[in-house]
Amino acid sequence: MSASIVGEPAIGRLVYTRDEVLESGAYEAPLFAAGVRCHGGFEADGRYRSPRTIHRAPAVQAWQAQLLREGNALLEIPRALMPPQYPSVEQSTLLLENGVRDPIVRTLTIISIVEGFGALIRDVKVPELSALVVEPIEGTALAHLAGGLFEAHARDESGWKDEGGHKQMWEAARDLALDKPKIPGDVLMRLMGRNAGRRRSERPFPQIDETLERMLAMMAQVLVVEIFAEGTFDWGYRLLSNPRVSAAPEAAGAMIDHIRTDETPHVEYLRTALSEVRARTLRTVDGRTIAGRRVVDGLLHGILRDTTRNRRSDQRDDVRENLAAAMQVAKNPAALLEAFDALEVGWAAPGRTGFEPEGDVTAAS
Ligand SMILES: [Fe+2]
Ligand SMILES: [Fe+2]
Repeated sequence: MSASIVGEPAIGRLVYTRDEVLESGAYEAPLFAAGVRCHGGFEADGRYRSPRTIHRAPAVQAWQAQLLREGNALLEIPRALMPPQYPSVEQSTLLLENGVRDPIVRTLTIISIVEGFGALIRDVKVPELSALVVEPIEGTALAHLAGGLFEAHARDESGWKDEGGHKQMWEAARDLALDKPKIPGDVLMRLMGRNAGRRRSERPFPQIDETLERMLAMMAQVLVVEIFAEGTFDWGYRLLSNPRVSAAPEAAGAMIDHIRTDETPHVEYLRTALSEVRARTLRTVDGRTIAGRRVVDGLLHGILRDTTRNRRSDQRDDVRENLAAAMQVAKNPAALLEAFDALEVGWAAPGRTGFEPEGDVTAAS
């Protein structure tokens, strides 16, 4: 498939310096979140512009156009795989209307902590890709991962120098909407405890360079997290912009909207770089080759299968562990729990991820 319907449209510049990838340009007005100077800012017409996008955004577009022009596909994670947020917007609204804030404060705090973990992306080791990929990679997203793309992503998530990032922006949205709630002290510990039991020890592709495999696995994992976060952000936006339960519906809603805008370049560069690998051939450690597609699809399949199976029940178990205790502040806790459960919507993971290894007809097992 070619991207050109009317002749060959010009593809933008494909090679950028690290400084360009990290450049935000000038803003008419900065963004403040609860008194903290954050990244990004506003144009003269009042529109929010994400940080580090004046070159990064057109660069990603150009790499995507190049990929399509070469007859390759841009991979797509089916949104139907996204488990719904627990508790739902309706359940969360009910809790807040009844003065039960703890589960919502916990959820919002977890979101901000997970955003802060994004700083780890700058520590992902990038191997000598031109030696491990058979086809040329010049002028691709892949060639810019170490040249600013990972660093820009890390800065967006966790902040940079004296500028807040998504971590601080979510904290601000939470504190604005819920009037600076008291944060339970065990949120981080419980989150770490849950994740610790889930490490995969076996390498799915031991035949390729280990640093390359780790990098691709990390990118696939982060891509899935970023895409599934769309549902979480939609939940946060709908809840915290509701004047019935939010003390600052406009300011909190706007903050979440800015974060959502900033996430687009993350999803786009990750799926572009993974699609570029998918369209290429990788060298194995024993001097042979393997289709990049087999590796990328294999990694995505494993991650999607695990996430679709576990995320919903993890979230539900986590919330329900404290739910009954948290409801004690309500006038009639038993009636509230009943009303809460009546709003429960079931969800089952789809049988297929869409990235099944070729020839695997038993993927739903
Ligand atoms: Fe983020
Ligand atoms: Fe992100």
